[in-house]
Amino acid sequence: MTQPAAPRSASTSHPPATSVRADAAPRLAARGLVHRFGETTALAGVDVDLVDGGSLAVMGPSGSGKSTLLHVLAGILVPTAGVVALGGREVQSLSEKERSLLRRRRYGFVFQFGQLLSELSALENVALPAMLTGSSRAQAEEAARQWLGALGLAGTESRRPGELSGGQAQRVAVARALVTRPEVVFADEPTGSLDQATGHDVMRLLVESTRAVGAALVVVTHDAQVAAWCDARIDMLDGRVVAAGAVPGSGVGPRPGELEAIRATAVPR
Ligand SMILES: Nc1ncnc2c1ncn2[C@@H]1O[C@H](COP(=O)(O)OP(=O)(O)O)[C@@H](O)[C@H]1O
Ligand SMILES: [Mg+2]
Repeated sequence: MTQPAAPRSASTSHPPATSVRADAAPRLAARGLVHRFGETTALAGVDVDLVDGGSLAVMGPSGSGKSTLLHVLAGILVPTAGVVALGGREVQSLSEKERSLLRRRRYGFVFQFGQLLSELSALENVALPAMLTGSSRAQAEEAARQWLGALGLAGTESRRPGELSGGQAQRVAVARALVTRPEVVFADEPTGSLDQATGHDVMRLLVESTRAVGAALVVVTHDAQVAAWCDARIDMLDGRVVAAGAVPGSGVGPRPGELEAIRATAVPR
């Protein structure tokens, strides 16, 4: 007699903390995520659902587990327990090498301090991930040029990161995250080092252009205005989701002409 297989995910009796557009199958789903660093429990059972084109803001005080959640969802960290599925396929148990390939080919990242390569021009910084995923230099540079243009950076192609303003550098980082047409974009406090107005410009572009490529977005932020531009929001405390829900009236919309430029560049998969 064979026993029925035990469910691999930590079973949850309640619906996932975040449910964006219940009619669509999630692109990225996580169930029962637990992560411990030694004695510290950074994640204590988190569920997340993200659909294509959906955006999720992750909020909460310092130390509440936001970055750990992002790193586990992105396959940078392997959870102590729980399941992460991309397009219905579990990814938490892939090897280090497979997870690294997954991140390069299917995910995009925007970090707080951009982390552009200082020796490369803006154009080369954006073209590099496309070349690493198999585009020729000419194809990659053409895609990079289009993305820089769509994000209002035409004319900065040959500048090094040190010759860009903070806001320009973060827009280059957004272009770099999107040039490979990722399925999910992860951003950890991408505007944390910018003044608020500049940060809002960058965030608006990040949310709108991620939506335009049809990718899902997970963004850690301390800014309630930024969260209001996303479709959904979770609030974390001590490794748990303490509040979750759709954001009413999200998407303030791009400025005139902006979305057209992004859409022209961002051919959805
Ligand atoms: N590499 C690590 N080693 C040990 N503890 C860590 C590590 N990273 C995070 N932590 C701990 O895990 C908890 C959650 O951290 P983190 O996810 O970075 O929070 P947040 O991004 O919300 O500030 C904190 O208690 C933090 O000190
Ligand atoms: Mg953090």
